[in-house]
Amino acid sequence: MNYHVLTLFPEMILQGLGTSIIGRAIQKGILSLEAVNIRDYAGNKHGKVDDYPYGGGAGMVMQAEPIYSAYEALCQKIGKKPRVIYLTPQGEIFSQQMARELAGEEELIFLCGHYEGVDERVLEEIVTDQISIGDYVLTGGELPAMVLMDAISRMVPGVLSNEASGVGESFQGNLLEYPQYSRPEEWRGKKVPEVLLSGHHANVEKWRREQSLLRTAARRPDLLKVAEMTEKEKMWLAAFDLSDHPQVF
Ligand code: ADE
Repeated sequence: MNYHVLTLFPEMILQGLGTSIIGRAIQKGILSLEAVNIRDYAGNKHGKVDDYPYGGGAGMVMQAEPIYSAYEALCQKIGKKPRVIYLTPQGEIFSQQMARELAGEEELIFLCGHYEGVDERVLEEIVTDQISIGDYVLTGGELPAMVLMDAISRMVPGVLSNEASGVGESFQGNLLEYPQYSRPEEWRGKKVPEVLLSGHHANVEKWRREQSLLRTAARRPDLLKVAEMTEKEKMWLAAFDLSDHPQVF
């Protein structure tokens, strides 16, 4: 996977993704990350890339031409026209399913806006996907772009050292993950659930599955509508009274 980010703050992107799992995957060559400074395509010696909005109003608007020039130069260089993702609160809300789907691309371009927005005409011209990371407004598209790249990268084969660790986790089958415990067996009077110490694999799996179902019901009941459950599991969950177990959930 090759990521290309059109931004006014390339150092933010490179520093933000240069460490930990994503940084290692870049070093291993499984991923590549390039941050293109839109200011380098300003077309004037002051590096000015924004201007006042037509019609008036507060703030500045990023102009079309520097963004378009940066995009054109990038496509020329790589010899392809990849999907262009514009990060905006007006976009489709990002999900694990979108992360999985985007991980199938060879190249992705992210366009990060700033100020009050970006001239609509360049969005019409180059953007293929508009994506939001949630119903709140950030100061720019860099953090959302990094959120997307992190989630997408985890779905790229070879990025997670343990291939299985991307599978049995939250949102797999639209269920939340079961709770995890490590040593010591007792910490501040709190014991690890007995079944996890039993060494009985089938019982452990059953307990984890039940915990996933119960957690999802308690914390994200909206997910149950789309969760992958057997009829038997649905009935078991319907019969379970969550209010009897406030200490757990
Ligand atoms: N830019 C500003 N806020 C954003 C959000 N919530 N999601 C994506 N891009 C954004």
